[in-house]
Amino acid sequence: MPTLSDLDLLSLPLESAELAQDPLPWFTKARGVHPWLARWDKFGFVITEYTAMRELFGRDDTLRPPYADVVDTLGQQGTPWGRFTREQMISLPVDQHRLLRTAFAAKFTPRNANTLRPMMRETIGRLLDDWAPRGAIGGEIDFEEFASHFPISVMFTLVGAPHEGIALLREDLEAIGLAHSYQLDRFPRIQEGMVRLDRFVQDTIAERRANPRTGEVEDLLELLIRTGDEGNISHRQLTDLIMFFFLAGYDTSKNVLTYTMFTLLDHPEIYARCATDYDYCRNVIEEALRWYNPSTVARFVDTEFEYRGVTFPRDTMLFFPLSISGRDPGAFPDGERFDPERTVDPQHRQIAFALGKHMCLGQYIARAQLQEALHLVAQRMRAPRLTGEPGRRPFPGSWGLDGLPIAFTPGEAKVGVLEPA
Ligand code: HEM
Repeated sequence: MPTLSDLDLLSLPLESAELAQDPLPWFTKARGVHPWLARWDKFGFVITEYTAMRELFGRDDTLRPPYADVVDTLGQQGTPWGRFTREQMISLPVDQHRLLRTAFAAKFTPRNANTLRPMMRETIGRLLDDWAPRGAIGGEIDFEEFASHFPISVMFTLVGAPHEGIALLREDLEAIGLAHSYQLDRFPRIQEGMVRLDRFVQDTIAERRANPRTGEVEDLLELLIRTGDEGNISHRQLTDLIMFFFLAGYDTSKNVLTYTMFTLLDHPEIYARCATDYDYCRNVIEEALRWYNPSTVARFVDTEFEYRGVTFPRDTMLFFPLSISGRDPGAFPDGERFDPERTVDPQHRQIAFALGKHMCLGQYIARAQLQEALHLVAQRMRAPRLTGEPGRRPFPGSWGLDGLPIAFTPGEAKVGVLEPA
């Protein structure tokens, strides 16, 4: 039986700006050489087919998260980012991860995400009050910058932190979010950001311990602190967990919102309907997550296994570009059509939030944020048009647009009816 390295595979330069600019043709070419595998010479192998991603990524028994190994590969041992990355939620031993996930899962249900919708709406409304009038004077805005303020403002509210700190921390999250593009020259700035994020979270916890919100509805920070105390979770672990929530929810949500706007520039009728049809925004966001999503996630083979007649040796690094999984013609024969009303085959759902035991805990919060944002943005930024060429972020890690210059006509808000998900 052949092992991975015996196969004739296309080498994909995942680190290159050309691939980040337009990844789909590269993956089409790769599938022409081998139907579900390619190579990334720098680090390992790439799963290129939707079905293989689904079947392999959930193999938590034979694959291990890559984060501890990546710290060594990048020579970041003993740095703030290196320490955090080795000890953060996805890297924890199985039993500790289960304890944390079970303890916090109750706060991340669809029902709980729905209770946050009024706050999300209020948050995006406030941002639009600031940004939408800029269209009135014929100016253009960078939609990516606008979008970047939204998830961080929601997180600040969720942990009850004063919003004055957002400006500085947003730049730090921006820098840290590029760590998994594996570009060494970014690390000095990433380390600076990690130190500040750590301090910010420790101060936030200390402030809340000194002033607990007794008698009020328990917010996310209160829940994390209480669950942490009950479960004997150390201060360090609690701090890391909250840091992780900030990092996990920031550029993922921002990139999806920005790319959704970019996609809808080519579909003005769909965009216009989002302004009036609140429920339709759900379909548009699901289709947008299929069309494009930010994540390429990695795993190492922990126990050698065989799959479709190929041996996967221990310690091989595997990349799962979930970002392009929804455009695999093998699973989505008409995938090049952006159609929010498509019938979704349960076997072929979008997998932007991954699979298995590390499947995104914040997925319902993320969906609710994106739906609320799209509904209000479509009302307040009417008839958007591109005024310049958007850049691209590096493909590995959290891909997306780097700047989206648009102009639009400012509109009035007519908030939709809050419906349960
Ligand atoms: C559109 C936005 C988002 C996308 C595309 C996304 C995607 C992902 C992916 C692909 C993973 C799996 C990573 C891996 O297995 O290596 C993940 C895990 C995770 N995400 Fe998200 N995420 C989003 C938003 C959020 C938000 C808003 C939060 C928190 C409020 C969040 C919290 C988490 C957590 C805690 C995990 C780890 C779960 C575990 O290990 O059990 N994410 N996310």
